[in-house]
Amino acid sequence: MSADGDPKAELRVIARTDPPRSKLNDSIVVLSAGAAALLGVVFAVSLLAGGPMVLYGGALAGGLLLLAVAVRRYFTDRFPDIEAVEPREIPSPDDTDKPLSDVAPLGPRRSLLKRALIAAGGVFGLSLLAPVTSLGPAPGRTFTTTAWARGVRLVTTDGDPVRPGDVAAGGIATIWPEGAIGQERSSVLLLRLSVEPVPPTVLEWVIADFLVAYSKVCTHAGCPVALYRQQDNALFCPCHQSTFNAVAGAVPTFGPAARPLPQLPLGLDEEGYLVALSDFVEPVGPALPRA
Ligand code: FES
Repeated sequence: MSADGDPKAELRVIARTDPPRSKLNDSIVVLSAGAAALLGVVFAVSLLAGGPMVLYGGALAGGLLLLAVAVRRYFTDRFPDIEAVEPREIPSPDDTDKPLSDVAPLGPRRSLLKRALIAAGGVFGLSLLAPVTSLGPAPGRTFTTTAWARGVRLVTTDGDPVRPGDVAAGGIATIWPEGAIGQERSSVLLLRLSVEPVPPTVLEWVIADFLVAYSKVCTHAGCPVALYRQQDNALFCPCHQSTFNAVAGAVPTFGPAARPLPQLPLGLDEEGYLVALSDFVEPVGPALPRA
């Protein structure tokens, strides 16, 4: 700002020193940029080919370093050294004065340098897309569905289908969908309650004298709910002691779990075996809502 407070007053240049042009500097820019691009390619190829980490890690680090060197050297002698003053009431008669806004950087640098930098940055940037291939396939609905579907039989860990009479009063069993034994997200606890269940238990999905099935995956952090206390029909998760009321829709009554254990719709097939009527209608475990 000038002495009269005019913010638009121009600064005046009183001295300007243009840095010497250096072929060595230009060569460093081109060579660094080329080497950075080359290391970018090495990084991408070695990563995609499953090469050793030291190779692609070293190529990445070296490429970034060389790219930084190229950029730094590109600007090293690009701008002049300028001294400028703010004008006073009496303008300087010095003919050499001119507004700072008229001062341009050194004339256009050889386009080779700029092209080398842009090309190196482009190649190196593209090479950084290589890690995307290691993300694997999209999860799709893997986290919101299970192996249960209409007509899928309930089987034991040995693969035996289950009839209602196989579970005694007060009994409990870990059950899997037929064809998906060991798939943790699909595991259920099949219980025969000692008292009549009440809502929010879905009563249409309770069959054969209080036989009910709940997801075995804790809704807090996904541990298997493993313990059942018959006296008060309580299910326990051993990880952080969440407790669920099996008579009332497996709602949590204690501990950090905030959601009930989802109930599996139960039915019988024509041979009298227990089957699912559908997948769970709620996500199992500490899941996100269904997409
Ligand atoms: S995982 Fe079950 S209470 Fe934490």
